[in-house]
Amino acid sequence: MTQENQLKNRPSAAKRETKRRSLKGLAVRDGLVRHPFDLEFDVRTSGLVAGRNLSTGQRNDRHATAYYAVAPSVFRGMLVRWRRCRPLAPIDEFTFIDLGAGMGRAMLLASEFPFRAVLGVELNPMLARIGSRNLARWRAAGRARAPMRMFCRDAATFDLPSGKCVVFLFNPFAAPVLRRILRNWAATLGERSGTLDILYVNNEQENVLRQQAGFTRLFHGEVRRSQADTAAERKILGNQPDAAYAAMAWEDCSIYRWAGANERSHPESKDRSRDSGGERR
Ligand SMILES: C[S@@+](CC[C@H](N)C(=O)[O-])C[C@H]1O[C@@H](n2cnc3c(N)ncnc32)[C@H](O)[C@@H]1O
Repeated sequence: MTQENQLKNRPSAAKRETKRRSLKGLAVRDGLVRHPFDLEFDVRTSGLVAGRNLSTGQRNDRHATAYYAVAPSVFRGMLVRWRRCRPLAPIDEFTFIDLGAGMGRAMLLASEFPFRAVLGVELNPMLARIGSRNLARWRAAGRARAPMRMFCRDAATFDLPSGKCVVFLFNPFAAPVLRRILRNWAATLGERSGTLDILYVNNEQENVLRQQAGFTRLFHGEVRRSQADTAAERKILGNQPDAAYAAMAWEDCSIYRWAGANERSHPESKDRSRDSGGERR
């Protein structure tokens, strides 16, 4: 059988999905254990969905890593590191954008800060739908200090809004997607240095950022999980071992800033990660 026929005869991802009411990894029968964050705030962000189970027939499906929500303590630790890197404007001038927003946990946490807006971009429609419901609950409970909006779309086709942006990445996709996104930004941002900061948690594709001219690395190191998050996630992942992800006591992270088109790649001389409290094992 040719590869084309094999593809034609395979049931579409959308049809396979309608047989289940939820993605594999989000149901109790898949071993789901709810994170204390969900229990405390009555939202739905827990679960582990392997990349192969996220497919809905879109071009960049094959580059998706997995769905898993960031540990609240790691997210908050990253925001502290970012503020130590002296963003070039007050926080209310920045739009926060989570590329690969999943069910919106990082967006909810970001909205505890007075950002100009908090946006999320998620490829998988089921995750984006659940995420939008979470945002509505969060808003209704009066917890959001910033307007929030979820877009169901491929991050590779999402244009940055005007003004200053801080983009959050919790290792959402493989190198080809990240490379394409960085090239687009480099082409549009030109000499407007300081208009874009990138917070990269679980920075598996760090080399892609190092190779893209125009960015300066401000921080590179470990951001620790709280003991409570580590204990909760060990329990969660022990019950649901469906992806190559282990809850360590820290995440490898980095922070980058757009420095202008004339900034060279591998900017070792301009690497200010040590000055910014970066630490490395
Ligand atoms: C590790 S999860 C992070 C979830 C969220 N950022 C958080 O911290 O709670 C990565 C997410 O990226 C999404 N994703 C992968 N490739 C994508 C793409 N090309 N465009 C948009 N979202 C994508 C996946 O579906 C998954 O929900």
